[in-house]
Amino acid sequence: TVLVVDFGAQYAQLIARRVREARVYSEIVPSTMPVSEMLAKNPKAIILSGGPSSVYEEGAPRLDRALFEAGVPVFGMCYGFQLMAITLGGTVDNTGAREYGRTPLHVSRAGSTLFEGTPTEQSVWMSHGDACSAAPAGFTVTASTAVVPVAAFEDDERRLYGVQYHPEVLHSTHGQQILEHFLYRGAGLAPTWTTHNVVDEQVALIKEQVGDKRAICGLSGGVDSAVAAALVARAVGDQLTCVYVDHGLMRKGETEQVEKDFVAATGVKLKVVDAEERFLTALKGVSDPEEKRKIIGREFIRVFEQAQAEIIADEGPAVEFLVQGTLYPDVVESGGGTGTANIKSHHNVGGLPEDLEFQLVEPLRKLFKDEVRMVGQELGLPEEIVQRQPFPGPGLGIRIVGEVTKERLDLLREADAIAREELTAAGLDREIWQCPVVLLADVRSVGVQGDGRTYGHPVVLRPVSSEDAMTADWSRLPYEVLAKISTRITNEVREVNRVVLDVTSKPPGTIEWE
Ligand code: XMP
Repeated sequence: TVLVVDFGAQYAQLIARRVREARVYSEIVPSTMPVSEMLAKNPKAIILSGGPSSVYEEGAPRLDRALFEAGVPVFGMCYGFQLMAITLGGTVDNTGAREYGRTPLHVSRAGSTLFEGTPTEQSVWMSHGDACSAAPAGFTVTASTAVVPVAAFEDDERRLYGVQYHPEVLHSTHGQQILEHFLYRGAGLAPTWTTHNVVDEQVALIKEQVGDKRAICGLSGGVDSAVAAALVARAVGDQLTCVYVDHGLMRKGETEQVEKDFVAATGVKLKVVDAEERFLTALKGVSDPEEKRKIIGREFIRVFEQAQAEIIADEGPAVEFLVQGTLYPDVVESGGGTGTANIKSHHNVGGLPEDLEFQLVEPLRKLFKDEVRMVGQELGLPEEIVQRQPFPGPGLGIRIVGEVTKERLDLLREADAIAREELTAAGLDREIWQCPVVLLADVRSVGVQGDGRTYGHPVVLRPVSSEDAMTADWSRLPYEVLAKISTRITNEVREVNRVVLDVTSKPPGTIEWE
């Protein structure tokens, strides 16, 4: 394991992902963890992340020098680099000279462990106020910028390395290469970690955890729950029952994908609850977005619990486990934890105990999203499910601006299917993060379709690119693709007479309209 010490902000997750892209397993630990505890994990290497603090701020995170004396290779980045510098006796000045964004880096030792095979001049991503002016004894300075005399230092003897910039972000042109040089050359690690091992390992763990008991899993149609369920099904077969609540707010073909393709690929036992009527009734007359979310969430839990109760009634009290598709970023963000949490499920269904306690099975808690997709692929899940773009739990319910009705949902489903089809045909699925299609049901627009004047509704295309949905930019789709989508939607979906493009980044706009 490579430990990524998290000094705050979102850098640590990105670094951990990049390390795994280099096929070395990594885990994130908080910078508040005592060094003895970090070393007890027997790390093969340690990476110190960047962070929002200045090393001179009062209360800024520090590091015990013992970390650098344990013989474990260490790579410091940005804040981690500066901390390494001052901890080992170098000089970091509060120069006031800030560097932010894309910065030219001059490599002074082209053949060094970190920079071997990369150009002497490269572009890196900087974000700092303080600057290292003298490296600690024993280090060789290997790169600089116009503002920072020491932008990288290396000590092959002690296997300690550092760079002032952020090699983990894509704007640092040779960042991944430099990270790999640290891992392979500096720390002597081999690129052996794959999601292939994850399947075998998780199947064994799930078998052990579930034993001869039974488990339930709620399928949302999304990647995470599908892969989690597929893993558990591989481990314990029909001791698992999946529940799929069809709330009528899914996109075209998605429910069928779960009912047919997912079941065919996994052989899983599936209980489908057709709850469209119930959701539509509950949503009648509601146009406030938060109100919609609350209603959909509430109804969902009720329907799911009822299904759960029926399964327990059928299968007896051996149902002890609930499968969830929790991912590593959720685990890191909620402060770690050991996966032993119990969740309570409240019942008001006749004959069953008031509170039922389940143990969680979370086979994806160590994985990032792209790794979950790889595991899904290895488990033979259909491409449409594995590569599915993010889709909000409340579904199309929050993509109709105005009241949600069956007619409007059907309209939106058609328009959305056309947009998806054309984006796929143009080979743009990997480039865009997601492309909500939004029906402005409360807005009407005049048009001329066929021979006559129409008074219909506009739909909005909202294609965005993003790494994590926290920030996003609108995707610059080719005009021909936009034209094709627009023509098809206005031709094929009679009630829509206008297609508009959302050109807002996030922030200030969110990805969804509601
Ligand atoms: P926003 O609109 O906040 O969306 O920029 C960020 C990401 O989250 C998804 N999203 C949701 N997912 N329940 C969900 O499960 C929700 O209520 C919800 N709202 C937004 C959205 O699709 C995007 O990927």
